[in-house]
Amino acid sequence: MAEVLHMQPISYGMHNIDEIAKKIRGLVGQYPIITFTGSLGAGKTTLIGRILVHYGVQEPVTSPTFTYLQQYTTADGKIVYHFDLYRIDSVDAFLAAGFDEYLHQPGSIVFIEWPEVIMPLIADSVCHINLEYCDEGSRLLRYNEVPARKKADSFVKKS
Ligand SMILES: Nc1ncnc2c1ncn2[C@@H]1O[C@H](COP(=O)(O)OP(=O)(O)OP(=O)(O)O)[C@@H](O)[C@H]1O
Ligand SMILES: [Mg+2]
Repeated sequence: MAEVLHMQPISYGMHNIDEIAKKIRGLVGQYPIITFTGSLGAGKTTLIGRILVHYGVQEPVTSPTFTYLQQYTTADGKIVYHFDLYRIDSVDAFLAAGFDEYLHQPGSIVFIEWPEVIMPLIADSVCHINLEYCDEGSRLLRYNEVPARKKADSFVKKS
């Protein structure tokens, strides 16, 4: 699966988002943390919502922009932590909220939108997904299996 997504950027629209979501779901066994970067409205929450459907999560997935964190339970009992860190402006703020304890809980899965600010806290092996707006009806997905720390400098958070 990783190889498939590695080969080239994938363009997708709402018509085939489930196909993409299913592929990404296949990666999660290997990578307990998946980061999602991309500009405002690139489609991060939407894609996470569709991935969670493939985990058997039935409740609607909404953006935790103001609460920072939403928790879901998969059909097989795994806990999913969904972060949106757009409004967290430093590692210290993240730590002060006690959020780091959710990053490495055995058996859990972590999805992080706007992960840039906490890249130094994330273990070397994460699955990193970038979404880019193409036009109203499509987005471009890039997948990168990289040590997050090495990439952190190249991430720019929108103000
Ligand atoms: N592949 C796609 N093709 C067309 N439209 C899409 C696609 N993915 C998402 N959208 C649409 O883009 C809009 C923004 O999506 P979404 O809220 O998921 O973005 P986001 O990246 O999470 O934004 P934010 O940075 O504010 O959290 C929604 O209206 C959604 O339906
Ligand atoms: Mg979002």
